[in-house]
Amino acid sequence: MQQKVLALKKVRNALLLAHNYQPMEIQEVADFVGDSLQLAKKSAEVSGYDMIIFAGVKFMAEMAAVLNEKTPVYIPATDAICPLAAWVSADKVRALKEEYPDAPVVVYVNTTAETKSVSDVICTSGNAVKVVSGLGVARVLFGPDKNLADYVRRQTGVELIDLEPRGHCYVHQQFDIAQITLLREEYPEAVVIVHPECPEEVQDAADIVGSTGAMVKIVAESPDETFVIATELGLVEQLQAKHPDKKIIPAYDRAVCRQMKKNSLEKVLRVLEERPKENLVEVPEEMIGHIQEILERMSQAPDARFAEASASD
Ligand code: 13P
Ligand code: SF4
Repeated sequence: MQQKVLALKKVRNALLLAHNYQPMEIQEVADFVGDSLQLAKKSAEVSGYDMIIFAGVKFMAEMAAVLNEKTPVYIPATDAICPLAAWVSADKVRALKEEYPDAPVVVYVNTTAETKSVSDVICTSGNAVKVVSGLGVARVLFGPDKNLADYVRRQTGVELIDLEPRGHCYVHQQFDIAQITLLREEYPEAVVIVHPECPEEVQDAADIVGSTGAMVKIVAESPDETFVIATELGLVEQLQAKHPDKKIIPAYDRAVCRQMKKNSLEKVLRVLEERPKENLVEVPEEMIGHIQEILERMSQAPDARFAEASASD
């Protein structure tokens, strides 16, 4: 099936983009694999393709559609929807804006297009600290991930008002310090890297907090040989395949994002064969301009385009 996908990709002049959490069978045949920031950047840069297939969750594919209006963007699984995005509605943002009229609204890219359409700036886990500090204000409204908010709050000293104090990712919320403590006992030489969507105490117990893109970079460039990784298993599998000489240990071996895994090679092939209308990713016309504007604002924060890799403390 991988051979079929590779061959048909050429015939269709299609670009296959895949997030770091995608099943390995998709990552292996993708043209580019990355974190949400790198994928957004890639979508904006490419030209000359007749279609983009975005293997990830819907909000990521929507960003590709907004950043590359000329190329139709397809998602293999139409029901791959990030539940974190459901924590903050556009109405909630509007209500909090009224309460705090002077605080800009910074939304995590893991939000719906409608929520983004009433917000002021977008950030990803790879640039949240730079975006918030780049605003140069004392107070912002931020959401929906409370753990990312904790991380940004501590790194920047800016007052972050949660758009939703309970907002979290069900995959990353499962990590706890007991797992890290046990693994540190077993592998005292390991570098522990955790995603900022993990709970605050897990971030505190880590050596490094970073986006999935930062994790890829650190493991590739570091002379260390043993790593404990606290994020979704797709990234762990990618690192294990890329670095057979290094020991890559998942902090929790059931950290699976079911939504990311709704995409499959069969579904990628179907999109290539049939280009089904229902798999076309569309953002309402009236929202596109504003989302483009706030993505541009994101990229204007100093160095925010580049994935960060910062020590937790
Ligand atoms: P990254 O931006 O680090 O790839 O994270 C996206 C995500 O959905 C994390 O759960
Ligand atoms: Fe959403 Fe969490 Fe899955 Fe990332 S891992 S796509 S935040 S549910």
